[in-house]
Amino acid sequence: MAQRLFNVEGVRLACEDVGSGPPIVLLHGFPLDHTMWNAQIDALQSQFRVIAPDLRGFGDSHLADGDAENGVGMERYAADVIALLDWLQISEPVVLAGLSMGGYIGWQAVLRWPERIRGLIPCDTRAAADAEEPRAARFKMAEAAMQAGNSSPALVMIPRLLGAETREQRPEVEVALRAMIERQSAETVAAAQRGMARREDVRGKLDAITADSLCIVGVEDVISPPAEMHEFAQLLAKSGDDDVRIVEIEHAGHMTPMENPAAVTATIAAFARQCYGL
Ligand code: MLT
Repeated sequence: MAQRLFNVEGVRLACEDVGSGPPIVLLHGFPLDHTMWNAQIDALQSQFRVIAPDLRGFGDSHLADGDAENGVGMERYAADVIALLDWLQISEPVVLAGLSMGGYIGWQAVLRWPERIRGLIPCDTRAAADAEEPRAARFKMAEAAMQAGNSSPALVMIPRLLGAETREQRPEVEVALRAMIERQSAETVAAAQRGMARREDVRGKLDAITADSLCIVGVEDVISPPAEMHEFAQLLAKSGDDDVRIVEIEHAGHMTPMENPAAVTATIAAFARQCYGL
């Protein structure tokens, strides 16, 4: 793995940048870091340049002053990703996959900088904003994390992040996931939860997306279930001559890249090859 550090408006951010070939950007979910994509980073780098940032505050990236209190909006994380591409001097449009919170960021990136994205992979994510109750729960978790001084309040998410089969038959996935959550700071949990609570409902904008899209979802995902993905994929499909598909991943819940890594890698690779005309 090759970590690179860069600065956006004085904030230090970290990313993995490995392999050579056409670029694939992988955005992690909450409250995780780029290592949730380790299997894909390893496998895709023989054909692609794989860029996997730690989003602001997560992993080895820092927060700006006030981020924990104010929340980090999905558009701010997206602007960081575009700044990263600028810093890497990647001006050609990329293939970008985002899992869950990474997917919320992906919407903002493609809607605000459509010329930078040729292929979008919304992975176990949603296009709708939160209803009132889950939104309130986010503010509560933000406060609980700040009070605890660590990310422990986010550990309650684990049973919903993984499919039952993974939890029963592949306990090492849960161990890795737990360790990843425990590595994140209280401030990062608060910043992201406050930002996600305020995120936009993008369903009304999906028909403006002209990038090719491939939706990935675990069949056992209870956070962003397959039925909901089929609904928003219909909205994406309205956007003209692009090509929208959904791939449902067996033996997986919300964390498809960790739960069924080979299937997710193969799906991303095939889509990226198609996007780049390889
Ligand atoms: C994630 O995996 O990023 C989270 O489940 C997103 C969320 O809390 O909505």
